[in-house]
Amino acid sequence: MQPWETLAEADAPDGARLELRRRGHEYLIRAGGWDLMSSRDDSSARALATIGCAGLTSRAGVRVLIGGLGMGYSLAAACELLGPDAQIEVAELVPAIVEWNQGPIAALAGRPLDDPRVRVHHGDVATRIEQVRDHFDAILLDVDNGPDPLAHDHNARLYGAAGLRAAHLALRSSGVHAVWSYSSAGSFARTLERAGFEASVHPVPNHGRDRGSTHAIWLGRRRAPKRR
Ligand SMILES: C[S@@+](CC[C@H](N)C(=O)[O-])C[C@H]1O[C@@H](n2cnc3c(N)ncnc32)[C@H](O)[C@@H]1O
Repeated sequence: MQPWETLAEADAPDGARLELRRRGHEYLIRAGGWDLMSSRDDSSARALATIGCAGLTSRAGVRVLIGGLGMGYSLAAACELLGPDAQIEVAELVPAIVEWNQGPIAALAGRPLDDPRVRVHHGDVATRIEQVRDHFDAILLDVDNGPDPLAHDHNARLYGAAGLRAAHLALRSSGVHAVWSYSSAGSFARTLERAGFEASVHPVPNHGRDRGSTHAIWLGRRRAPKRR
């Protein structure tokens, strides 16, 4: 088997070490000592957008927030699905990830950063969520391993009561909060429900190294008009 070649390295603002590796046609991003994602399986990253944006494809003036960029597959899928006047923001914590998506891995997802509807928020997606009220029709979150984050400890706050409440406030009425997760295990549905969402879970097949297993997309639809 061909050995991995390290193409670039960078430090995330929280100190986690990131590495971009290539082996033949496969690319790998490692973060904090873990394999964060591989280009070998883009299906669940794309499913995050297809499931999260399912009700938005024929709606005008849609606003979607994606966090984070990774290899750009969720962003590319959202660009394919949404209308010409959609506003698609992608929040990315690590500047090097944005640079890699403009350079060595730009072609993997078809250069979605070049889409004129796309704007990059350089920084923490949690900050962007906290900045707005009644703003997004969908928030698509794939920043780590899911509700049990591995690479960046600070991401745990996105999945707790306060983080979900902030997402609820940032969404327009009947907006959708979609969360990629390594597995559907755990009690995240209950946490979503408690934060004011109608929760469902959508298993998506894993076509990568752990073929046969499933990842999951948690979906929270904003339930009631919020209290002010
Ligand atoms: C698993 S990858 C995302 C994969 C992406 N869905 C795709 O289609 O390629 C996780 C990304 O989230 C970024 N990230 C981690 N924590 C973040 C945060 N709090 N805010 C914004 N981006 C974050 C990482 O740097 C990485 O680029």
